[in-house]
Amino acid sequence: MITCKSEAELERMRRAGRIVAEVLARLCERARPGVTTASLDAWAEQYIRRRGGVPSFKGYRGYPASVCISIDEELVHGIPSRRRLREGQIVSFDVGVIYEGYHGDATVTIGIGQISDTAKDLLRVTREALEAGIAAARAGNRLGDVSHAIQVTAESQGYNVVREWVGHGIGKEMHEEPQIPNFGEARRGPLLCPGMTLALEPMLTVGDYRTRVLDDMWTVVTVDGSLCAHFEHTIAVTEDGAEILTRL
Ligand code: MF3
Ligand code: CO
Repeated sequence: MITCKSEAELERMRRAGRIVAEVLARLCERARPGVTTASLDAWAEQYIRRRGGVPSFKGYRGYPASVCISIDEELVHGIPSRRRLREGQIVSFDVGVIYEGYHGDATVTIGIGQISDTAKDLLRVTREALEAGIAAARAGNRLGDVSHAIQVTAESQGYNVVREWVGHGIGKEMHEEPQIPNFGEARRGPLLCPGMTLALEPMLTVGDYRTRVLDDMWTVVTVDGSLCAHFEHTIAVTEDGAEILTRL
């Protein structure tokens, strides 16, 4: 069942979302060549706890860190380590926070120093795909309209959309119904109603859209090693459009 949140619940989700947004903005400032991903994770965990939140990923199904940090051909669920960031990489930070029992979840992908034109274009289009999904997430539309908007934005500009990983409802749980594929047919699926809270998260690849999981049991990479990107916001469907909850 897809639940619709009350105004009081939405207020908690706004607070959780604000902490997520603050963490992401600061991680982007701290992400420079030479910095280890583990140090960024440690900083983020401290920041979240000081703000009164709990990092929702830590311990989730045994995940060992607070932030997922995925580099270049790594799509999602990269584990922070002693690895140092380098000029030319693209890096995603995926952050989840629980605040007073409610979740926020968001992701950005950024370039470290100078990056290739291909990488820049991939980031632009993935960001655009998320914006298109958000624009389609209004009451009266169907979930398929959101999926379709994301897919068309990506494919019309030459990129592929990952099939094996999807967005999700969010609220008291990090993952609630419905699943939200980044591909699909317009005018299909459940009707969107005010108060639905969704994590939209387009994942685009330059090459093959298939993925595999590394031996660490977490890190998801593209099968062909091609570059990929991921952006995510937690949003609330309202009468007139969507409200982005994971924004400053
Ligand atoms: N943002 C991811 C998601 O939406 C978070 C899961 S990472 C995990 O599924 F470490 F918590 F598993
Ligand atoms: Co998510």
